[in-house]
Amino acid sequence: MRILSGIQPSGRPHIGNYLGMMEPSIRLQDEGDAFYFIADYHSLTSTHDPAVLRENVRGLAIDFLACGLDPEKATFWRQSDVPEVTELAWILSCVTPMGMLERCVSYKDKIAQGISPSHGLFAYPVLQAADILIFDSNVVPIGKDQKQHIELTRDVAGKFNDRYGEDLLVIPEPQIREDTATVPGLDGQKMSKSYDNTIDIFEETEKKLRKKIMKIVTDSTPVEDSKDPDDSYIVELFQLFASPDEVAEMKDSFRTGGQGYGHYKQQLFEAIRDHFAPMRERREEFERDSAYVDGVLEDGAKRAGEKAREVVDRVRSAVGM
Ligand code: ADP
Ligand code: TRP
Repeated sequence: MRILSGIQPSGRPHIGNYLGMMEPSIRLQDEGDAFYFIADYHSLTSTHDPAVLRENVRGLAIDFLACGLDPEKATFWRQSDVPEVTELAWILSCVTPMGMLERCVSYKDKIAQGISPSHGLFAYPVLQAADILIFDSNVVPIGKDQKQHIELTRDVAGKFNDRYGEDLLVIPEPQIREDTATVPGLDGQKMSKSYDNTIDIFEETEKKLRKKIMKIVTDSTPVEDSKDPDDSYIVELFQLFASPDEVAEMKDSFRTGGQGYGHYKQQLFEAIRDHFAPMRERREEFERDSAYVDGVLEDGAKRAGEKAREVVDRVRSAVGM
């Protein structure tokens, strides 16, 4: 079974990225042939400063390794080191109906956020389909917002197979974890870099992490009153990091009343800080050893490149090249 996923180097990863994509990918690296990459071609749609792009790629590689991506188990590379994917994207473009792309909500969302409407942004899902199909991927772990792109990938693969021959491209399945499908941000909306409501995996200092968590939106229920644990972003985030017993305890305390929201935010802060503490340590080691990180990506590109060429050759021959 091939497991594949990608993430854009478009800033520091946050706990929505971690729970939606990175942690599930890391967990799956024991269950099959895992392929994970840093989607720098995709980032060109929004990052236009070469120094920033380079730094974001380096930072994300370190963060992903620190979180537990194991290069002995998973192939890990930078997307642009396997440029064959852009060739497949072109070939797939020619079987992708315009209407299919016009229906993609991410294009409209991104324009609404102020990203300039380039052709690359519009064609983004076709490149994503190529990322997946070029490795005969079976399973794609992602957050819920990416579901439509996987559906498009399946449709495009189906169109290609209809036109050129059954079973040429493998149809992938999305894998979306229910509990972390949409992690809420500080304001309760989906946590996203574009909403400025994120908690980064590696905030610079503990103080900054605590300060952010203290900003989580709450209502104005007085300290002594009973509070509804099922209507609280604090509880929603806490259960992603705490044990079932700890969650039950917090919920009971909410119902009983007598504590202000600041008390629960402090508990959430400690849970998040402790969860990422060992990763933070590893991160510092990788930060000091950039030769190791470069080596991992280089080695990954070699392995990914071999598989990509195999599929591109199959596709080229099928379309008549
Ligand atoms: P952002 O919205 O911050 O720009 P991306 O679009 O780069 O995040 O997402 C990268 C990966 O992280 C995707 O697989 C996406 O589904 C997942 N992801 C992003 N935000 C969340 C969230 N709030 N909850 C769950 N998964 C998320
Ligand atoms: N579009 C994805 C995101 O914004 C990143 C991505 C690019 C991806 N290619 C992919 C994810 C292939 C899964 C599979 O998060």
